Amino acid sequence: MLPGVQSVPLTALRHPTVSTLLDDHRALLAELLDGLGSPLHIVLPEVFEENITALRQAFAETGADVDILFAKKANKADCFVRSAAALGVGIDAASTAELVKALAGGVPGHRIGISGPEKDDTLHALAVQHDCLVAVDSISELRRLAATARLAHRQVRVLLRARTTIQPGSRFGMAAAERSAAVSLCLELADHVSCRGFSFHLNGYSPEERAMAANEMIEHCLDARWRGALSAELVDIGGGLPMRYVDPQLWDEFIQQNEPAHYHGNKTSRGFHFYPYGGMPPTQAVRTIMNHPVDGDESLSAKAARNAIRFIVEPGRSLLDQAGFTVFRVQQVEDRRDTDGYAIITVAGNSLSLCEQWFNTDYLPDPLLMSAQSLADKVFPACVAGSTCLENDMVTWRKIRFPRPARPGDHLVYLNTAGYHSDFLESRFHDTALPLKAVLRLGDAAPRWRLDGI
Ligand SMILES: Cc1ncc(COP(=O)(O)O)c(C=O)c1O
Repeated sequence: MLPGVQSVPLTALRHPTVSTLLDDHRALLAELLDGLGSPLHIVLPEVFEENITALRQAFAETGADVDILFAKKANKADCFVRSAAALGVGIDAASTAELVKALAGGVPGHRIGISGPEKDDTLHALAVQHDCLVAVDSISELRRLAATARLAHRQVRVLLRARTTIQPGSRFGMAAAERSAAVSLCLELADHVSCRGFSFHLNGYSPEERAMAANEMIEHCLDARWRGALSAELVDIGGGLPMRYVDPQLWDEFIQQNEPAHYHGNKTSRGFHFYPYGGMPPTQAVRTIMNHPVDGDESLSAKAARNAIRFIVEPGRSLLDQAGFTVFRVQQVEDRRDTDGYAIITVAGNSLSLCEQWFNTDYLPDPLLMSAQSLADKVFPACVAGSTCLENDMVTWRKIRFPRPARPGDHLVYLNTAGYHSDFLESRFHDTALPLKAVLRLGDAAPRWRLDGI
């Protein structure tokens, strides 16, 4: 093993469409990068559509009745909204701009859910006009929303966001007394507010915890019905379905061997907090949640069916599994192998286009090195830096064992970046343009591409 270099490569899993593009259509990718600039996000609506079908099927297999709302915040590309509209999937929007884009992309208002704490009056008014389902976070928000609906001579459909017993310290949602008062207020303002059910916020990716929280929401629906809110029939289980970027065995090995010396600047000494990259696939998580026993032997989905409860799920990241990747051009390579044991590859672009850094962490799946000239295979340990003037602008802090030396003009491909890893934190720092997105469809013939945009 080379000194100071991690022993486990974290090979990124690849969808067959991604493999075909990387293996058979490199010239096209190179042309796109040349023409559209580095980094370039490639987005793949076909894979997104496939994920929707798989998720629907997983819910159907458990007997759960579900509406899927794609959490738009996970990627700003318009092509995903269009795909959702075409497949009858709704959108979870958390801002006026997201709602406008969802409507412009062809998603009808009744399929749009509005989430986020203390939403402003502009978002409320648009949501009321378009008959969106609004998740309300507090009594004060409920009062404001009801006033907006009254002015518009409409009745707005709401979910009440409740605090869970699993994470009672969350800053989101209403604790028991406020939740109960909110049900009363819905009954009082019934001409303008219709309580349709409950939602919750849960940090983390545990399917068991999500099932337990959903069960609490079923109980809240039953209680609300008993008090007269007869239309309380929806339980929104949120997003947070886990997903798998790398083989779980590799991931376990990585976690066991991980140490600060594997990173540029001994970065882990500052305390990384990693996304669980070897997690359960989303369809398996759906089965685990819905089959979870909640009342004796009765599963969550069976209890919901028995009580005429329907589910809403708001996946962001997991619907984007494999639905995009990001290509950077290598700008410079500083070979420090003799002194430090590794090189620093500087790419055209910055770490805000691969935005795990916000969470004091690193995007861990290994990037692929694609070179025009073929060099002899020889392990080349290197981390990857952005081309801004900031010391902390590291696209990959971890020292990757590239299979051969990198050269200026080569390409680095970061796989599976569509869910939060591309535009979440993008910035026009240094007055640079924001990276573009090329929408690629493989179909049966040659790949077709266009720039993203409605
Ligand atoms: C209300 C709500 N719905 C859905 C999501 C999407 O979660 P994920 O991308 O983990 O599926 C989030 C994430 O922040 C959220 O806050």
